[in-house]
Amino acid sequence: MTSGVPADPPSPTGPAGTPAPTGPMGSADAAGVPAPPDPAGLTVAVLGGTGPQGRGLARRLAMSGQRILIGSRVSERAEAAAAPLRGAGLDVSGMDNARAADTADLVIVAVPYEGHRDLLVALAGALAGKVVVDCVNPIGFDKQGAFPLPVAAGSAAQEAASVLPTSRVVAAFHHVSAVLLEDPGLDRVDIDILVLGDDREATDLVQALAGRIAGMRGIYAGRLRNAAQVEALTANLISINRRHKAHAGLRVTGV
Ligand SMILES: NC(=O)c1ccc[n+]([C@@H]2O[C@H](COP(=O)([O-])OP(=O)(O)OC[C@H]3O[C@@H](n4cnc5c(N)ncnc54)[C@H](OP(=O)(O)O)[C@@H]3O)[C@@H](O)[C@H]2O)c1
Repeated sequence: MTSGVPADPPSPTGPAGTPAPTGPMGSADAAGVPAPPDPAGLTVAVLGGTGPQGRGLARRLAMSGQRILIGSRVSERAEAAAAPLRGAGLDVSGMDNARAADTADLVIVAVPYEGHRDLLVALAGALAGKVVVDCVNPIGFDKQGAFPLPVAAGSAAQEAASVLPTSRVVAAFHHVSAVLLEDPGLDRVDIDILVLGDDREATDLVQALAGRIAGMRGIYAGRLRNAAQVEALTANLISINRRHKAHAGLRVTGV
């Protein structure tokens, strides 16, 4: 018997273990060794990109060189969120959620849990075949603070997968603070991003996407069935933040 903690299959690397990025989903070298994916050329949409989390992710990804489409239910709001980023020299446009989902190669969902399911149902056609990154935390608040809300599907990410059966749903970016993402005084955001999903190519791609943001590292953290506790952990982080008046994040040691 081993420790009971099975090793994940090795990450794809280039020859001699050096990264050899090629296409968005990677490819194999002459020896058949898969190269890590390279998301640099992908257009990324952020649905609900007018809120702090979507704006922050849009800003950091654009700073890393990514082309970004901010989505909103109202295109004027999206354009208003995009304008200052574009004014700062970043490649960011604003449009309604449907057009953003349709135009992008990869789509991040950054809307409140209450609106999550209905939005994805409405956009299922546009999202078919695409990598959809869900950062939604179903969290409630009462006098005792933050607590995880029950989700019939198990987690928001599993709910996304159930209404988007032909998309490649990945869960990521749950624990990174919008305040830090949006802080113009920070040139890096030091945090590990837990990346979960059932599609290895898609989770590798999202790990690589997170890794393009200065200070961030994407770490594979399991299948979508393990997303509930990642989403719920946000309630613990909010409690830490309230006690310490901080914007706490996570670092995974030993990897
Ligand atoms: N804030 C954080 O630090 C943080 C950190 C990690 C993860 N998250 C997660 O990221 C998501 C977004 O967080 P946020 O703080 O940016 O949220 P938010 O400001 O409440 O909402 C983001 C945007 O979603 C759109 N929206 C609101 N209600 C909607 C509905 N019913 N249907 C469709 N769209 C709706 C709005 O855009 P339009 O009105 O322009 O359409 C809004 O600007 C949440 O699920 C949250 O759990 C947040």
